[in-house]
Amino acid sequence: MTPLRSDDWYAGSSRNAYIHRAWMRRGAPSSAFEGRPQIAIANTASDLTPCNVHLTEVARSVRDGVHEAGGVPLELPVVSLGETQVRPTAMLWRNMAAMATEEMLRANPIDGVVLLGGCDKTIPSLLMAAASVDLPALVVPGGPMLTGTFRGKPLGCGTDVWRLSEEVRAGTISAEDFSRSESATVRSKGHCNTMGTASTMGLLAEALGMVIPGTAGTPAPDSRLLEAAHGAGRLAVELVREERRPSQVLTRASFHNAIVALAAIGGSTNAVVHLLALAGRLGVDLRLDDVDTIGSRVPLLVDLQPAGRFLMDDLFRAGGLLAVLREVQDLLDPSALTVTGRPLVEHLDGAQVWDREVIRAREAPLLDEGGIAVLRGNLAPDGCVIKPAAASPHLLHHRGRAVVFDSIEDFHARVDDPELDVDADSVMVLRGCGPKGYPGMPEVANMPLPTKLLEQGVRDVVRVCDGRMSGTAYGTVVLHVAPEAAAGGPLALVRDGDWIELDVPGRRLTLDVPEAQLAAREPSARAAAAYAAPTRGWERLYVDHVRQADTGADLDFLVGASGHRVTRESH
Ligand code: FES
Ligand code: MG
Repeated sequence: MTPLRSDDWYAGSSRNAYIHRAWMRRGAPSSAFEGRPQIAIANTASDLTPCNVHLTEVARSVRDGVHEAGGVPLELPVVSLGETQVRPTAMLWRNMAAMATEEMLRANPIDGVVLLGGCDKTIPSLLMAAASVDLPALVVPGGPMLTGTFRGKPLGCGTDVWRLSEEVRAGTISAEDFSRSESATVRSKGHCNTMGTASTMGLLAEALGMVIPGTAGTPAPDSRLLEAAHGAGRLAVELVREERRPSQVLTRASFHNAIVALAAIGGSTNAVVHLLALAGRLGVDLRLDDVDTIGSRVPLLVDLQPAGRFLMDDLFRAGGLLAVLREVQDLLDPSALTVTGRPLVEHLDGAQVWDREVIRAREAPLLDEGGIAVLRGNLAPDGCVIKPAAASPHLLHHRGRAVVFDSIEDFHARVDDPELDVDADSVMVLRGCGPKGYPGMPEVANMPLPTKLLEQGVRDVVRVCDGRMSGTAYGTVVLHVAPEAAAGGPLALVRDGDWIELDVPGRRLTLDVPEAQLAAREPSARAAAAYAAPTRGWERLYVDHVRQADTGADLDFLVGASGHRVTRESH
């Protein structure tokens, strides 16, 4: 048998081996240190991450599985990020969480790891960590919450909050009804039940091959989640014995499959940033444009909010991800492996659709082209994205005059000013919200509409921003504009009244100002005054080193992998 990585700590009779064993004994027999894979359970459970709180229960099932297969389970609490709580945005801390987890996996006597995540940034950060340390790893996605209902109607997490709050502003529901819906939104443990970022990343982790096929999307309270966790514990031990590592699973072929899946499920735009960052950790040559070339013509098959009607519980009941992927099997790369050691496509054979309303047939999709479009032009030389499935068809090709906001505070201060020169054809521009500018690239791009437009019955206008939007949001919103205004992007040059043309079919975003005029303009000083200027700590490190959205907004020195070796002893 090949020696285990942990043997380097535990084997032999040296003083250091004695120290490593002695402190870990806690009643364990010597055999616990002899040839038994040491499996970390990287757990993002936290009282401040409500979507992940149940992962401690999930971890117990993982433990059972690890024990049963002859390994030693070791729970490792890791940095957790609660999407709804953390300021200024959980995205600011994604790379920190990834870095901390990577380092702790490397520093400890661990042979393999089971990654427990759920809420938006937790699965991306865990995957990035596992990729950079390249120890045998798999993910157990914590799963969505059950569908909450209010007055007889299902409530979609996030999506219905955006919708209802706009209805209050439009005067179509009362403020009392809005607050009454609050306790109904989160019905059970689990993450948001719309096709937001958490649902998307759980499902994409499976499409990438990093989850036991067929288990992503299992609702958090469903006992089958614990069965999956038990299986993951067992499989982690096998991964170590077979030396199957993330670098063997996460190949260009598996990213291809993830992009197909992203389009077919109508997943979150945030997945684009996370996939690019993950690919960067592995040295996989994935470009922003691949998201469009691979994904844009894939049909949208899953009818979930925010693009459609249903919620994650319905998707699981209807057959789940494998049933969706079976419909588009011909578009998948058959060579992509999963943690089972078998290709993803081999796991599709038994998949079946149980509800054709939730998962559409290939011949009758919700939309022929479900993927995320990548646009370029003089307003976004390095690209930007839009999710046509969540946009208004009549705005996909549109020309309008810019109404510019220099910061989110500027937006809030002026959006409802009756004097604001805005109409249904305007293009609302918000800058200073990129990785460096905010900092952390928050989900503010889906700016609420001016009340006076809502009162006129307008429910969508074109919006352009260097930030992100929540995966649960909708609207004709152009996101992730790169370079951002704070990194010298042309977004800083836009002025009120400039003509902007959005042409999604032609993949263009154009600021219609003559080049010579544009060259003579100075970047907005008002915008610059609001850019983040941290002097110390993580924010300083982040702003100094973060890359732009088109390459995944990772820190420049975290791109790539360091592997798992540590050559020096601690004593
Ligand atoms: Fe955690 Fe939405 S807030 S997944
Ligand atoms: Mg979010």
